Amino acid sequence: MAYLSTDRVEHHFHDVVIIGSGGAGMRCALQLADAGHRVAIITKVLPTRSHTVAAQGGINASLGNVDSDHWHWHMYDTVKGSDYLGDQDAIEYMCRAAPLLVRELEHQGVPFSRLENGRIYQRPFGGQSREFGAGGQAARTCAAADRTGHAILHSMYQQNLRAGTHFYQEFFALDLITDDGGCQGVMAWDIARGEYHLFQAKAVILATGGAGRVFRVTTNAHICTGDGGALALAAGLPLEDMEFFQFHPTGIAHVGPLITEGVRGEGGYLINAEGERFMERYAPTARDLASRDVVSRAIAQEIREGRGCGPDRDYVLLKLDHLGEELILSRLPNIHELALRFADVDCTKEPIPVQPTAHYTMGGIPTNRFGEVVYPGYDGKETVFPGLYAIGEAACVSVHGANRLGGNSLLEIIVFGRACGNQVMKRLKQHRYHPPLAKDCWQQGVARVEHWLDRGRSGQEGIAGVRLQMQSIMQEHFSVYRTHEVMAEGVRKLESLAASLPEASIGDGNRLFNTELIEAMELENLMSLARVTAAGALARTESRGAHARDDFPERDDQDWLKHTLAGIRDGRVQLDYKPVRMQPMTVDAFPPKKRVY
Ligand code: FUM
Repeated sequence: MAYLSTDRVEHHFHDVVIIGSGGAGMRCALQLADAGHRVAIITKVLPTRSHTVAAQGGINASLGNVDSDHWHWHMYDTVKGSDYLGDQDAIEYMCRAAPLLVRELEHQGVPFSRLENGRIYQRPFGGQSREFGAGGQAARTCAAADRTGHAILHSMYQQNLRAGTHFYQEFFALDLITDDGGCQGVMAWDIARGEYHLFQAKAVILATGGAGRVFRVTTNAHICTGDGGALALAAGLPLEDMEFFQFHPTGIAHVGPLITEGVRGEGGYLINAEGERFMERYAPTARDLASRDVVSRAIAQEIREGRGCGPDRDYVLLKLDHLGEELILSRLPNIHELALRFADVDCTKEPIPVQPTAHYTMGGIPTNRFGEVVYPGYDGKETVFPGLYAIGEAACVSVHGANRLGGNSLLEIIVFGRACGNQVMKRLKQHRYHPPLAKDCWQQGVARVEHWLDRGRSGQEGIAGVRLQMQSIMQEHFSVYRTHEVMAEGVRKLESLAASLPEASIGDGNRLFNTELIEAMELENLMSLARVTAAGALARTESRGAHARDDFPERDDQDWLKHTLAGIRDGRVQLDYKPVRMQPMTVDAFPPKKRVY
């Protein structure tokens, strides 16, 4: 190994280091920087390129700007949407906080669209109801046209610049520094300069987003490689409920870019090859605005039964031309552009070809509702991992359970970004100094980079081929509908591919701006997440939310109303389980019921 001393490892001290510059990381940083703490954000991209920028349709809050609404109804919809796997204390906390925090976003500069009366524009989204499902469809999703994530991310960035947050951009996190006292910092690689950096911090927050790139066709950007989850796994922590991967019903067929649920919220609808509005058969009341798992399964079923469109009958059509050009260009301008660019379709005149597409990682790093990372202790009780926090899509708090409602992810990042910031402040009061670190704490991180640089031009299979194989296995063996036989074969292939990864090579052995080196380490991260996802899915012998099994078509609350914990120990995936937190904070629990839309 070329690096044998710390001479060339630059050492930084911060109160808090946040890994990831999406909405969750930035909202958390803002809370801390405004309180006067020395906060650093480490991000592998330029902050405004974080994947929050791609969120389209909006953020949920029971503002009641269009019709009557209440946070308790929002809570009910979220628990039902989660197929009862969501933790009800965290869900209550999120739904109660939503109106206040969305209004705060407005004051922080987010340019929401407006109703005639000047209030924030709200549109209907899937799985939303009033009066606990008895009062019809709610319109709860606050939108900035169809670029809501873009608007929020830019406002958060500007606020953080004002507040004095330190940004280390184009830095890649290599390894968490942990010891008996908990998490003490992180090793990182400066991508542009090819240098090592050791960040020491009293709190480390993982806000690295999702892992959509484990699949071949996804709405996720290339950067969504589950880096935080992989750092947690490498630190010996398990991930929670990774088998629940959300397929968004309307990704552009074959290529993946997201066509927002907002299209259906504005009155668009799905049709099959026979021109039939098939959602009427699957969800007679909510129809196209049923929850995402229901709509994705319905589309997959239509395709399986031969009513798909196109030469391969493998997609359905999303019709919105009847909404008129004026509405489309004012409320859905981004969709208009995406459909033109990626499907060659002018959606003011023709329907858009769509199919269920990997979209959102509902599982993640287990946390409590304060963002503290938790793991099962020896006594079976949950223990906090000191100094380590996780928020946003990287985390599993768990407010989404087995199926997330559209519009709840932007909400989650704001609510738990802020809650985590507040909790970290309590820790900072008790931990005023950086403890000394073990002398060799930097070595693991360095070894990761040096391994790949040593393998430059080794003549073995390149990482691009391995990545494509992994994505194809996930796509073909862990898609919308699953069976034991298909998944077991997938696990076998994946485990053998994972074992071969250290032998793969990169074509570029340089240190400066070596993007292939970064891709190699991202692939390591993806591979770990794919392995725990696959193992958790194979073991769960029921259908719940996004995990739909042909061989176990019913939900099984008797045996499976529990969270999966999947870790990697001694190179092998190991599974464990923990109970769902059914007790809310102040209201009665919503007990499991049959879910109909
Ligand atoms: O359909 C959408 O606009 C996506 C929103 C979300 O995933 O929350």
